[in-house]
Amino acid sequence: MQMATPTQDLLSHIQSVVDENGEHLMSEELVAEAIMGLLLAGYDGVTSTVTLIIKYLAELPHIYDAVYRKQLEIAKSKAPRELLNWKDIQKMKYSWNVACEVMRLLPPSPGVFREFTNDFFYAGFTIPKGWKLHWSAHSTQWNPQYFPDPEKFDPTRFEGTRPVPYTHVPLGGGPSLCPGREYARLVILVFMHNVVKRFRWEKLLPDEQTPLPYPSKRASYSFDFSCVFYSILEQPSLIKRIPLRDIDAYVGIEEGADG
Ligand code: HEM
Repeated sequence: MQMATPTQDLLSHIQSVVDENGEHLMSEELVAEAIMGLLLAGYDGVTSTVTLIIKYLAELPHIYDAVYRKQLEIAKSKAPRELLNWKDIQKMKYSWNVACEVMRLLPPSPGVFREFTNDFFYAGFTIPKGWKLHWSAHSTQWNPQYFPDPEKFDPTRFEGTRPVPYTHVPLGGGPSLCPGREYARLVILVFMHNVVKRFRWEKLLPDEQTPLPYPSKRASYSFDFSCVFYSILEQPSLIKRIPLRDIDAYVGIEEGADG
């Protein structure tokens, strides 16, 4: 059996990181935390997304049909038993738009905490250095200003002119943008291809409600992070006082964050 080199698996990689004196940088506790974090982050987002894709495809037959037609074209272009390749994945634009719309309506991660490293002022609010903020994907993803008729399932929102940067943020953004996003895209698209090719399904309980938490004041959009970002950009004094990389981290946004 051949052993992995330190760069071939994550655990070995983490364990092999040393400082200039050759001391290990990460304690056993931190290593365990990193591995647990990766397992959870890598598993939960994808499983939630594919589960919700199944839900929406059952509820919206016209969307299922469109996904099925496009996926069948790809399937027909393959030789028997030939596996999907990268070019096939690139052709799955409509399916990815469906996945993006699923993650817009029901973001698998409702948001993430950030800590302010400087005093921060926005729309009459002062947030002191050291305070924690939870940015919520709902605040922009359900905002009719960016997504007209936000309750409507409409994958075409992601065609042509894409949503305003930093408004579709299911995978976060800024320096902490999900590092697993491309892998997640691959897994989700391969899943969609194989499942629609083989099955058509319906909900056993058609009126079942999705048991997911929503912010109760979603409609107020009192803290709209894409506006925060632009308002900061327009105020040079803030840029001076808050390094841009930190602002990115506050608002959890990045151009093209939604892939
Ligand atoms: C559809 C699937 C996924 C969703 C919706 C998702 C969502 C997110 C979100 C919202 C964040 C926080 C970003 C931020 O703080 O701005 C994040 C971070 C992270 N994700 Fe994902 N993720 C997914 C898949 C994955 C996969 C497949 C992996 C690994 C294989 C992964 C690994 C991570 C890690 C390690 C972080 C922490 C990054 C950091 O703190 O710098 N994620 N993800």
